[in-house]
Amino acid sequence: MRPLIVIGNWKMNGSLASNQDWIKTVARGMESGMPSGRKFVVCPPFPYLSQCATLIKEHSLAFLGLGAQDASAHISGAFTGEVAAAMLKEMGCSYVIVGHSERRQMHQETDEVVAAKALQVLDAGMTPVICVGETADERNSGRAEEVVCGQVAKQVFVLQDRLADCLIAYEPVWAIGTGKVASAQIAQDMHRVIRLQLTEFNGDVAEHVGILYGGSVKPDNAVELFAMPDIDGGLVGGASLNPQDFLAICQA
Ligand code: 13P
Repeated sequence: MRPLIVIGNWKMNGSLASNQDWIKTVARGMESGMPSGRKFVVCPPFPYLSQCATLIKEHSLAFLGLGAQDASAHISGAFTGEVAAAMLKEMGCSYVIVGHSERRQMHQETDEVVAAKALQVLDAGMTPVICVGETADERNSGRAEEVVCGQVAKQVFVLQDRLADCLIAYEPVWAIGTGKVASAQIAQDMHRVIRLQLTEFNGDVAEHVGILYGGSVKPDNAVELFAMPDIDGGLVGGASLNPQDFLAICQA
């Protein structure tokens, strides 16, 4: 049985003061107990990882894991501005998002780079959250499955059985930050396609890999999305900035 996982991706948001308030509010909300068999993760920007790790410890937030939004495809060395996976592990991270569409689009990250990043994250002992998803044009021209399967295929080719230790996040680009959530059925259909693709590779791997949905997840649509058989949780952007909304989605 795969656990339901909710990951908050703060993107380039937060401050020392607002992070403190966020963790305090979430700690208070989680105090009274959370649904069992679920995992919750927050991914702040790099400079705040240390602060958030300390706050999570101070509040004994056993329910909340820490993640990062990206990692370098390289181990170490002359890569100005990049952050190595091993450094993130040292800061207390257990999860790292790789291949987010914002990085694919704005930083020209290819499937090869994304797979190299995932390998670094795995080698450092953390879980990569590998993002895939089609644009509006690709969906409107009937190519959504082809595009997503192509992205997944590259990860399968490079990561092979290690994919069992990864999470995949299906984030249709047209649903990110737009308020246009994919209907639960559209999301389920694509998750099913991904699951079948993984099954063709290796049935055991397919059963293990959690496939999260991302794109305008909110407290009022999370219940329906999470009820779908192949949706194993959510990668939440905007709504995760509000601690009450994040808590509501975690409880959905
Ligand atoms: P929104 O939830 O703001 O649409 O963002 C989704 C996302 O990109 C999470 O990684």
